[in-house]
Amino acid sequence: MYLPVNFCRKMLNVWVLLFVWLLGNTCVEGLGVNWGTMATHKLPPKSVVQMLKDNGIQKVKLFDADRSTMSALAGSGIEVMVAIPNDQLAAMNSYDRAKEWVRRNVTVYNFNGGVNIKYVAVGNEPFLASYNNSFVNLTFPALQNIQNALNEAGVGDSVKATVPLNADVYNSPDSNPVPSAGRFRQDISGQMTQIVQFLNQNKAPFTVNIYPFLSLYGNDNFPVDYAFFDGVSNPIADNGIQYQNVFDANFDTLVSALKAAGFGDLTILVGEVGWPTDGDKNANANLAYRFYNGLLPRLAANQGTPLRPGYVEVYLFGLIDEDAKSIDPGNFERHWGIFRYDGQPKFPIDLSGQRQNKYLVPAQNVQYLPTKWCQFNPNAKDLSKLADNINFACTFADCTALEYGSACNGMDTNGNASYAFNAYFQVQNQAALSCNFQGLATVTTQNISQGNCNFTIQIAASHSSSTRASLVALAFLTVLTFLL
Ligand SMILES: *[C@@H]1O[C@H](CO)[C@@H](O)[C@H](O)[C@H]1NC(C)=O
Ligand SMILES: *[C@@H]1O[C@H](CO)[C@@H](O)[C@H](O)[C@H]1NC(C)=O
Ligand SMILES: *[C@@H]1O[C@H](CO)[C@@H](O)[C@H](O)[C@H]1NC(C)=O
Ligand SMILES: *[C@@H]1O[C@H](CO)[C@@H](O)[C@H](O)[C@H]1NC(C)=O
Ligand SMILES: *[C@@H]1O[C@H](CO)[C@@H](O)[C@H](O)[C@H]1NC(C)=O
Ligand SMILES: *[C@@H]1O[C@H](CO)[C@@H](O)[C@H](O)[C@H]1NC(C)=O
Repeated sequence: MYLPVNFCRKMLNVWVLLFVWLLGNTCVEGLGVNWGTMATHKLPPKSVVQMLKDNGIQKVKLFDADRSTMSALAGSGIEVMVAIPNDQLAAMNSYDRAKEWVRRNVTVYNFNGGVNIKYVAVGNEPFLASYNNSFVNLTFPALQNIQNALNEAGVGDSVKATVPLNADVYNSPDSNPVPSAGRFRQDISGQMTQIVQFLNQNKAPFTVNIYPFLSLYGNDNFPVDYAFFDGVSNPIADNGIQYQNVFDANFDTLVSALKAAGFGDLTILVGEVGWPTDGDKNANANLAYRFYNGLLPRLAANQGTPLRPGYVEVYLFGLIDEDAKSIDPGNFERHWGIFRYDGQPKFPIDLSGQRQNKYLVPAQNVQYLPTKWCQFNPNAKDLSKLADNINFACTFADCTALEYGSACNGMDTNGNASYAFNAYFQVQNQAALSCNFQGLATVTTQNISQGNCNFTIQIAASHSSSTRASLVALAFLTVLTFLL
């Protein structure tokens, strides 16, 4: 069961200890989280690591092997999955480059007080249909080279290479849409068989990302209750099993695909699962609460799925909102965090799976920019350039909260403009020039938030990279101002 460390630390009361002992609970490692960093303003890595510790989170999955992140994790004991982004898969087709990657990003941290690396993620969902096969022939050789390099470096027993794959690598035929009919996708079945065989040979897990939210998103006929864990009136019957939720059905479709490929016992790790809180009509804190309040107790009880009862290693997606993520998949992409961009918890949750839901421990000592907002200038006369300026702001800042189904949808044009201008002003670290918009905007010290719509103040930047982005955008603004 997942008992956070801080919970245990507070339990220094003998009676409670006895109680806990009687229940058989211990503070075991279990749940992990995905720590993505595609944000204009990142919390200092050390604050994030402290936040992980304060909430008893002992496993983290990264999307790269950034040095500042790794330094912050050093000595924490937290188990880490480091990652090779898709755009480096081609390079990893060279064994020498793979050895270099392992040397510089894995074994360099392999010392007492270093980083407790458990996995290397080779690519991130490289077989997504939307990537048009760009990585299809690059992934397996990269996986082989990385695991072989880990083995050669003498860490292959404790560090396993795996490929986090989207659940779209397998499916059931339309003619028989049940989990037991699951097979790997036809166009990549050759690659998948090789990968699965290699993972098995190296005792490495199969990593899959499963998103019940996405089953619901973009399919208005999908039965809403099937995305959650509270039971449904029409379960899906499959060989005597009644499937009550899409998570189990999806996971068991993979189990069947693995079995058909000859590796029915391969360990499956869930690399990503979660629920976003904005950016769609089904993305909000209430539904996220409902999702986690169903998922976490099942994990804590090692319930598993009908075809795979027992423990499953799971990484929630995600830890913190990322306001610079691509919104190609949808506006919800920037709102997956169980924490907001500033490390404030969004809704009550119990990571120990005991349904004692309460707000998680926030990030400590967060430094915000001054309490200032940028708003639409009510005295502006010429509104002909308003739409252009809103567009500009939203190109460089996150306006997804304005869209249909989101927290800030439904404001009037001035409200929209203020939201967009403020978002941009904050991304630009409140630089004076960034709240002008050809005279359409003005700075205010009054909180202009409306109802559920939070006009945020950004955190103080601690990164040179965001300064560089600001300079580029400011230069762009100057050009635009000149042209219009
Ligand atoms: C190590 O990882 C970092 C961050 O992902 C990457 O930029 C760098 O190229 C890697 N080092 C090597 C030697 O490949
Ligand atoms: C994939 O192909 C489609 C259609 O040909 C194209 O619109 C899209 O940009 C391509 N995506 C990538 C990642 O190359
Ligand atoms: C991948 O390799 C196969 C076999 O060599 C080849 O037929 C196919 O065109 C390649 N696919 C891509 C996207 O490069
Ligand atoms: C505000 O912005 C949203 C998102 O772009 C748009 O759907 C809506 O129509 C806008 N509202 C007004 C009154 O312009
Ligand atoms: C502004 O007001 C909103 C809504 O009332 C509130 O949630 C938020 O904390 C306030 N922001 C600041 C910086 O005071
Ligand atoms: C709004 O944002 C501020 C920080 O800018 C934060 O302190 C506050 O909790 C937020 N309110 C809501 C309702 O999210």
